Amino acid sequence: MKKVITYGTFDLLHYGHINLLQRAKALGDYLIVALSTDEFNSIEKQKITYFSFEERKRLLEAVRYVDLVIPERNWEQKVCDVKEFKVDTFVMGDDWKGKFDFLNEYCEVVYLERTPEISTTKIKKDLKI
Ligand code: CTP
Repeated sequence: MKKVITYGTFDLLHYGHINLLQRAKALGDYLIVALSTDEFNSIEKQKITYFSFEERKRLLEAVRYVDLVIPERNWEQKVCDVKEFKVDTFVMGDDWKGKFDFLNEYCEVVYLERTPEISTTKIKKDLKI
């Protein structure tokens, strides 16, 4: 079974996220999403999410492409996750292109093209939230 992993905040789940998850799942048989915790978001990513970790997790678990959601608590856990879950492919949107090439030592690294013109930031700006 080919395992794929991706990381992110996935706040205000939108069609850009779904496109990413669909294409990530299509690269294998089992998709793990490492979901940024509220603490990691606020301390390391300077992001205050609209939905809490538990709410974002429930939304992702309801998506047919997602098999498992685990917490992303820090920047350093990726190598451990890849080893622990025997991950074959690490996937991110191409806004992260090149940033995680060091993982090539442990698994395949794929950057997928972002869906244009949609982001959580844009939704928040448009809705003034
Ligand atoms: N993503 C994508 N296309 C988009 C938006 C996001 O492919 N239009 C991907 C990102 O590249 C990342 C994953 O979805 O691999 C999670 O992205 P995240 O940062 O949570 O979503 P954004 O909408 O980019 O959030 P923000 O505006 O807060 O940066």
